[in-house]
Amino acid sequence: MFELPSFDGHETVKWVFDPETGLRAIIAVHSTVRGPGLGGCRVWNYAHSSEALVDALRLSQGMSMKSAMADLPFGGGKAVILGPIPEARRAAQFQAFGRAVAALDGHYVTAEDVGAAVADMEHVSRQTDFVTGLPSQAGAVGGNPAPFTARGVLRGIEVVALRVLDRSDLDGVRVAVQGTGSVGGLLSEMLAERGAKLILADIDMARSADLARRLDAQVAETDEVLTADVDILAPCALGAVITEDLVPEIRAKAIAGAANNQLATPMVGARLAESGITFAPDYVINAGGLVAVAAEYTGVEDLDTVLADVDAIGPRLDTLLAQATEDGTAPDRLADRLAREKILAERARI
Ligand code: NAI
Repeated sequence: MFELPSFDGHETVKWVFDPETGLRAIIAVHSTVRGPGLGGCRVWNYAHSSEALVDALRLSQGMSMKSAMADLPFGGGKAVILGPIPEARRAAQFQAFGRAVAALDGHYVTAEDVGAAVADMEHVSRQTDFVTGLPSQAGAVGGNPAPFTARGVLRGIEVVALRVLDRSDLDGVRVAVQGTGSVGGLLSEMLAERGAKLILADIDMARSADLARRLDAQVAETDEVLTADVDILAPCALGAVITEDLVPEIRAKAIAGAANNQLATPMVGARLAESGITFAPDYVINAGGLVAVAAEYTGVEDLDTVLADVDAIGPRLDTLLAQATEDGTAPDRLADRLAREKILAERARI
C-alpha cells in the first residue's frame, strides 16, 4: 500500500471485516490537518479488494483537496464497502460500519456516496455521531447532499459556458451527461429547465431512457457519450473516465461534471489543456454536497447561507480558470497546488 501512487501520505487506512454481518470495508483518512476527515461511504462491487483500496485512497485524497479549496474546516477521508450487500443484511452491515467509524474517534466523519442512501446513514447514526447527511425536514439544512452537488455543478457549467462559449445562458447549449443517478439526474433536470439540449447515458438504460423521455433529450450508449458532438461534457458516473487515449476523441469544448476523480492520471489534465479543452477540476465544481453535509455537521441552520456557499463554487471556479489561463497551467494542476498550499499552511500554523 505504501508504494501505491494513490497512497499520498494517508494518515490512516483501516480495513474492516465484521464476521457477524459479513461487512468488508476500507476507511481511508488522508488528512486531518484542517479538521476531521469528512467524506462519503461508497458501496460498489469491486472485482478485487486491491481495486477497492485504490478507489478509497484516491477518493479520500480528493476530499482533502475538496475541503481545502472550499475553505471548509475539514480534512479528507472516504470509505468503501465491498458489495454486494445482501438486502437482508443491509441495516446490520451499515451498523457494523458505524461501529468501525466510531472506533476512529472522530478522525473520520461519514456520509452518503454512490450506492449509499440517507436511510443507510440512519443505520450508521445508531452507532456513532460521526455521521452526516441524515434525514432533514424539507427546506432545512441536511439530508441527501445530491441536490446541493447538482446545484454547484450547474453554477460551474454556467461559468464554463460564459468563458468557453461566450454564452450567458444555457438555452440551446449542448451538454452530454454520463450517469443519470442522484446528481446526474437532478443536474439534467436543471439544465433542461434552462433550455440546454441534452444527451444522456447510464449503464442502467431504463433510467436514462425514462429521464430522456421526460426532458425531451437524446440517449447515447455509455461508451459513446464521452465523445458526443456537444459543447460541454458532464461526467456524473464514476471516476477515471477521461484517459489520455480518449482526449483526441473528445468533441466537447469543456468538461464540467460531478464525478470524483474524472482524470485517469495527472497527465490527462495537461493533455486536455494542450487540446484546448477546458477542464473544471472535479473537486472544485462538485463541492456543493460537501458544503451541505459540513454545514449540517457543524450545526448551520440557515439554508440560504448554505445555498450561498454552494453558489460560491461559480466564482471560485471562474477565478481558478482565469488564473490557470494566465499562468499557462492546466486547471487541475493549479487546483492541486492551491489546495496543497492551504493544507501545508494549516500544518505550519498548528
Ligand atoms: P449514483 O449512484 O446515484 O449515480 C451514479 C449513476 O451512474 C448510476 O445511475 C449508475 O448506473 C451510473 N453509471 C455507473 N457507471 C456508469 C458508466 N460507466 N456509464 C454511465 N453511467 C454509469 O451516484 P451519485 O451520487 O449521483 O454520484 C455520481 C458521481 O458524483 C460519483 O462519482 C460521486 O462520487 C460524485 N459525487 C457525488 C456527490 C453527491 O452529493 N452524491 C458529491 C460529490 C461527488
